[in-house]
Amino acid sequence: MHATALAHSNIALVKYWGKRDRALNLPVAGSLSLTLGGLATTTTVHFRPELESDLVSLDGRELRPGSVAHRRIADFLDLVRNDAGITSFAEVETANNFPTAAGLASSASGFAALALAATHAAGQQLTDAQLSVLARRGSGSAARSIFGGFAEMSAGTRADGRDAHARALAGPEHWDLRCVVAVTTQGEKDVSSTEGMTRTQETSPLFEPWARTVDADIAQARHAVETRDFALLGRVAERSCLGMHASAMAADPGVIYWNPTTIEVIHRVRRARRDGLQIFFTIDAGPHVKVFCPARELSALRSVLSQIDGVNDLIVARPGQGAHLLES
Ligand code: DP6
Repeated sequence: MHATALAHSNIALVKYWGKRDRALNLPVAGSLSLTLGGLATTTTVHFRPELESDLVSLDGRELRPGSVAHRRIADFLDLVRNDAGITSFAEVETANNFPTAAGLASSASGFAALALAATHAAGQQLTDAQLSVLARRGSGSAARSIFGGFAEMSAGTRADGRDAHARALAGPEHWDLRCVVAVTTQGEKDVSSTEGMTRTQETSPLFEPWARTVDADIAQARHAVETRDFALLGRVAERSCLGMHASAMAADPGVIYWNPTTIEVIHRVRRARRDGLQIFFTIDAGPHVKVFCPARELSALRSVLSQIDGVNDLIVARPGQGAHLLES
């Protein structure tokens, strides 16, 4: 009744922002991402009949039962228990190999690893598509971390959400890219992505116009990935990111994830691109900037980013593998 799984984080090149069903966590539109090797969560789940509640530790610290973080994991385990027909509570140990305190996304790798470990610990063997559907219930972006390399998430059309899952577009070996995370601040973000997207959807006049652009962006990004067209992928990724943030900023009250360094990095990336470097940026629901380049440009990119005041750290990731079991 126990299993250990590892999953990597991922970064969306065409963003997911907005839900068509909150209870089932169904997205309004699709999204497209790259799984990031090196940014990993490892999770062990052990169902134990003697436990009286779920026992969860994150990076060695026990989560308080009743806290938001604990409830999110216990609710997710309920989905697995219901499906597998088991009643035992579980001991969950989860650890990130990247700094969670820096506010880097961990729900994507976290719920992908939890989905795989918990279902195996419960004696189930799901297909990747079924795992992706399950991981989505924990966090929309986690549905993509089941797959390695480039993944495309479908919004699906079914009310039960069984067709709202990701699929693999191209494996990690398809394209030798690097993604450098320019860490621009320490500490947790103020507005979670769930809260930010809900407020945007409910109050921003720019939300629907942005959402209508997603399908065409996905088609172009998919083509750029298939043909390894870096310039095209960069154009789509920057406009998807800036459109998403513009819609969030126009919410009431506006949701602003950026700090002055975030904006400085955007300008420096564009200047370096004008000077001939092949790079583009994207930003999630936080202040850090993720900058992409072909592998051969990595040292030039590092030197651009390391000269920017306010950039505290650089974390380099390469295309990563999908979620996999380490032990069961
Ligand atoms: C900006 O997956 O964290 O990173 O489904 O509510 O858990 P929930 O949201 P989450 O949102 C990710 C938003 C984003 C864009 C993306 O990853 O596609």
